[in-house]
Amino acid sequence: MQRPAQSKPFWWILAILLAAGGFTAGGAFTALWLSRPREVTDAFHRLYHANGARTYNNTYWLGVPVQKCPLDLWVFQEILFETRPDVVVEMGTYKGGSALFFASMFDLLGRGRVITVDIADQPGKPQHARIEYLLGSSISPEIARQVRERLRPGERVMVVLDSDHSRDHVLEELRLYSDLVTPGNYLVVEDTHFNGHPILPRHGPGPMEAVQEFLRRTDAFEADREREKFGLTFNPNGYLKRVR
Ligand SMILES: C[S@@+](CC[C@H](N)C(=O)[O-])C[C@H]1O[C@@H](n2cnc3c(N)ncnc32)[C@H](O)[C@@H]1O
Repeated sequence: MQRPAQSKPFWWILAILLAAGGFTAGGAFTALWLSRPREVTDAFHRLYHANGARTYNNTYWLGVPVQKCPLDLWVFQEILFETRPDVVVEMGTYKGGSALFFASMFDLLGRGRVITVDIADQPGKPQHARIEYLLGSSISPEIARQVRERLRPGERVMVVLDSDHSRDHVLEELRLYSDLVTPGNYLVVEDTHFNGHPILPRHGPGPMEAVQEFLRRTDAFEADREREKFGLTFNPNGYLKRVR
């Protein structure tokens, strides 16, 4: 038996009802997500970290591995443009990707150099006229001396701490290097997201706890939470601006 063909108005009404339903459901989901920004970004943060082989261990700057979130790299670009440091002092070179990123930004800005320290000598690090590599522990008196003697009076300095992520190590780096940062420039403590902020809840006291202790002891720095504007950052509470 042949079914009667539906008239044109029937299909139009069905299409309009489906579209309206879709818009309503989409709007409801959007409203739900917007009402819970922390849950949404934390969930994505955990997903991003759990998929490290595809994400933070699979991120490159000009072909060199860089263990940073691209959103944080963009924030670094904005900070470098706004604050124009003469020198970035970095603890934790790894394969040189972040040092090369800073050097590339300095190429675009027409000024600046990078001093980067690591306890391990990774082969194949990028060679660049703006990058100087130092080998040794960031908390050894010898490295602290070598860093200081490379800075010239009047230079604007930014410091990035991205080496050993235990609380005590970071606190010692803060003791050794925070005073190098010039007023108006930034001290970035990396990977404050460890120890449940929101990833690796069993890590133990790490960079976040070091920052909290550091900020209790000093009023020279303030956490610039505006730098967390993209939601996902490896450095919550870690973009410290020297204010005095
Ligand atoms: C997270 S990786 C650095 C990533 C790099 N900044 C990037 O963004 O690609 C940490 C590095 O810190 C180094 N490191 C660990 N303990 C250190 C110490 N006591 N002094 C200096 N570097 C250290 C490790 O060898 C490793 O290369």
